[in-house]
Amino acid sequence: MTDRYAVVGNPVEHSRSPAIHAMFAQATAQTLTYERLLAPLDGFEATLRAFAAAGAKGCNITVPFKFDAFALAATCTERARLGGAVNALRFDDAGWVGDNTDGAGLVNDIQKNAGRSLAGLRVLLVGAGGAAAGVLGSLIAAGPAGITVVNRTVDKAQALVASHGHLGVPLSAATLADAPAAQDIVVNATSTSLAGAAAPVDARVLKPGTLALDMMYGPKAQGFLDWAAFHGAEPRDGLGMLVEQAAEAFFFWRGVRPDTAPVLKALRASL
Ligand code: ATR
Repeated sequence: MTDRYAVVGNPVEHSRSPAIHAMFAQATAQTLTYERLLAPLDGFEATLRAFAAAGAKGCNITVPFKFDAFALAATCTERARLGGAVNALRFDDAGWVGDNTDGAGLVNDIQKNAGRSLAGLRVLLVGAGGAAAGVLGSLIAAGPAGITVVNRTVDKAQALVASHGHLGVPLSAATLADAPAAQDIVVNATSTSLAGAAAPVDARVLKPGTLALDMMYGPKAQGFLDWAAFHGAEPRDGLGMLVEQAAEAFFFWRGVRPDTAPVLKALRASL
């Protein structure tokens, strides 16, 4: 039987993951299928159990189920534990293993695709929801000079900083209004771009050449990207992160690391 995978979410119909994993599978000569699985908001666990019972090998998890997936994993990788969220499950016979590949995806996109080594840089992470929590540990592991987490609800930024404070990189939390000026890297992990808004922080966080990355892509990211470009920063959408997190998940399931560059190029061309 062909190994089955899926992306499970609600909504899930616009996910690019099936196309990405199909390209990875073809390029690495792995035989597998990858589908979209819409889970009812009150039926995530039942959907997963039915999929696993049908012989599936694993799945990606997207909004709004990454915290539920963490709770359902028998064991988790350290990076998933840090954020309390899981975006990839492997249905091992000994128990489900949870991982979170979003942070590695973001870091690989910044370092490999955008060509910026994070070591010694000042990073601003905007947002403190699930998306931000999922990537903070990996950003820290890349060795920046410091990371500031800003959020509309400052308590959530403070909680994130407290839970990651032991990892050896100076962290601070602030309100959106108190975001520090002239950062090297600005990552928008809020859902404001969903509303087509520019950015929830003042443009003084940017300086010429700042890499300003929105985790969204397509029309949703445009407001932020236009804002960044207007203020002299280098705008970058979340498409590279999407492909890189998928490559990490593919490796987690298959033990094979696909080449991401041609896939990112094809995806970019199809948008
Ligand atoms: P996700 O999983 O995408 O991170 P989330 O956990 O709901 O979703 O987090 C959404 C993030 O966007 C939060 O940081 C949220 O700020 P609050 O924690 O204060 O709610 C942020 N956000 C959403 N709408 C916003 C807005 N209009 N202005 C500023 N921040 C906003």
